[in-house]
Amino acid sequence: MSEDGRSRGEGAGADAGAATRYPEHLRELVERYLDELDFSAAPAALPLVSAMRYSLLAGGKRIRPVLSLAVAERLGCPPARVLPFAAALELIHTYSLIHDDLPAIDDDSLRRGVPTCHVMFGEDIAILAGDGLFAEAFRLITDRQQGDAALVVAALSEVAWATGVQGMVGGQYMDVAATASRDDELRLLHSLKTGRLIEAAVAGAAILCGVSGAALEPYRAFAREIGLLFQIVDDILDVDGETVELGKTAGKDARLDKTTYVSRFGLDRARVLAAESHERAQARLADLGGDPGSLAAVSDYIRHRRS
Ligand code: IPE
Ligand code: IPE
Ligand code: MG
Ligand code: MG
Ligand code: MG
Repeated sequence: MSEDGRSRGEGAGADAGAATRYPEHLRELVERYLDELDFSAAPAALPLVSAMRYSLLAGGKRIRPVLSLAVAERLGCPPARVLPFAAALELIHTYSLIHDDLPAIDDDSLRRGVPTCHVMFGEDIAILAGDGLFAEAFRLITDRQQGDAALVVAALSEVAWATGVQGMVGGQYMDVAATASRDDELRLLHSLKTGRLIEAAVAGAAILCGVSGAALEPYRAFAREIGLLFQIVDDILDVDGETVELGKTAGKDARLDKTTYVSRFGLDRARVLAAESHERAQARLADLGGDPGSLAAVSDYIRHRRS
């Protein structure tokens, strides 16, 4: 993203161009909170914490926690109130990236513009750094997330579902095992490996701000759509993005023979599918009523991002 917080260039789709302001005020809240996290490690484990902080604080768009804060903002709940929950999602996302980059999975050497965790610290430490971030995320929510205990447990449950076999890890399995041969299977893969954590970011924040039952469904529908959009755009950027701007190695999907929206449908069709998904996301946002605010900005950013 450029320094003024605007997305640049043509975007992931042919009809891009509407530069959209990312909610930097929310991103700054997240960044500060992450930087101040203290994992209370014993002195002997401090090098492990260094590896965790190396990947966590290397940058990143912070889309999942920013989405949580944007949902709170929209609901008239102070965004800072959901920060422990939001930050936990970024810890989990970072863990998923560290493990995704390992030689046994995608074998990547560049992430967030710097050498990957295993390149810097070795595979053994990188595996543990990922495990540590995952576990510390749950501790962050149980120890620091304020609110009615039942709501905190419900938000926690969102995270557990989103990260497990019916969420990110299940999707990553489908990815590495290359099990998606039909279009609906590819869509499922994307919705599990990427969409579920994004849905947890939105639904968990809404729950913490008092939304329940049927009133949650429009939030989930919006989140599912931007989750799918996010991964379609990720697939497109792997082909038409640049390593320096992405902060990760472009062209990896083809080299690893991954099934992606581009390998399945071709670049032009993938761009059309991204545009259609973005339109559906806007419609789902309109279903929520009221001022779309930062949620609309994040949704537009996901569509037009170049990194
Ligand atoms: C990359 O996620 C991995 C996917 C889920 C596609 P991001 O594009 O959100 O990565 P960062 O957090 O900005 O580095
Ligand atoms: C990874 O998807 C999604 C995760 C759950 C980490 P990718 O393998 O496409 O992510 P990048 O392209 O390496 O960021
Ligand atoms: Mg991968
Ligand atoms: Mg990868
Ligand atoms: Mg990718």
